[in-house]
Amino acid sequence: MKVGIVGTGMVGSAAGYALALRGGASEIVLVDHNKKLAIAQAEDIAHAVPFAHACVVRAGGYEELEGAGVVILAAGVAQKPGESRLSLLSRNAEVFSEVIAQVRRDAPDAILLIASNPVDIMTEVALRASGLPRERVIGSGTILDTARFRSLLGTHLGIAPQSVHAYVLGEHGDSEVLAWSAARAGSEPIARFAVQVGAPITGEIRAQIDASVRRAAYRIIEGKGATWYGIGAGLARIVQAIRDDQRTVLSVSIVTPEVEGVADVALSLPRIVGRAGILTTLMPELTESEAAALRASAELLKETGAGLQ
Ligand code: LAC
Repeated sequence: MKVGIVGTGMVGSAAGYALALRGGASEIVLVDHNKKLAIAQAEDIAHAVPFAHACVVRAGGYEELEGAGVVILAAGVAQKPGESRLSLLSRNAEVFSEVIAQVRRDAPDAILLIASNPVDIMTEVALRASGLPRERVIGSGTILDTARFRSLLGTHLGIAPQSVHAYVLGEHGDSEVLAWSAARAGSEPIARFAVQVGAPITGEIRAQIDASVRRAAYRIIEGKGATWYGIGAGLARIVQAIRDDQRTVLSVSIVTPEVEGVADVALSLPRIVGRAGILTTLMPELTESEAAALRASAELLKETGAGLQ
């Protein structure tokens, strides 16, 4: 499958690199208004291919996106130290209106995979601008937050994060919700598993993990200016689920008809991802406080997005 990537800065190029290493695409086309950057990123990623899987990696114009099964939209500005994702909205919404029109013209059958922040609202912007069905306009959402949650729980429990089944819901941002009550390891509820392996999850541990997931991007941005490896790998994972029709359950964002009483809002819930895009959305059983936090996240996103009407 051909995959297009519009915006070849750190996130877009990391997604291309992760895709090449995973063997998630037969062809990767990098598009950027900075042609020199796109060409350099394409050549650099192409030099990784001999160590990985066969894949043609090249830079081109929007017209080269023709026939792409997925186009990743990573164009726009990134957070500065201490800056919230929501504060990027006006700058990135402007960039998107131009980008989406060109992508729809040259790759009308492609699923759009949104990476630019604030990703939930940018997913809504892309849906409106594209006219595509909501199941084919997917934001990376909390796929990275869920990975961070699982990684920290795995470290605490002494098990592989792949054996931890836990999700972060809602905004990919400060109002996100760690669904502790639905978290499991093996076939056990996480608290019960933790006791059995002698690593109980105390209130303090839970607060530490929550803060570490929620503040991860801010911490990394303080240290290196931006994040890109985690999100790049998350985007490549979503592409592979689409390409191979894997029907994998991933916490990704689409405009959802109703969440905790809030209508038509883009946020992350566990969703089955396959070749047609989002096949099914799953609503986990939540505690009252988790449901209230999800409602607050949905309301925040709805209010922030309303400013774009
Ligand atoms: C992060 C960026 C991708 O959470 O929002 O690292």
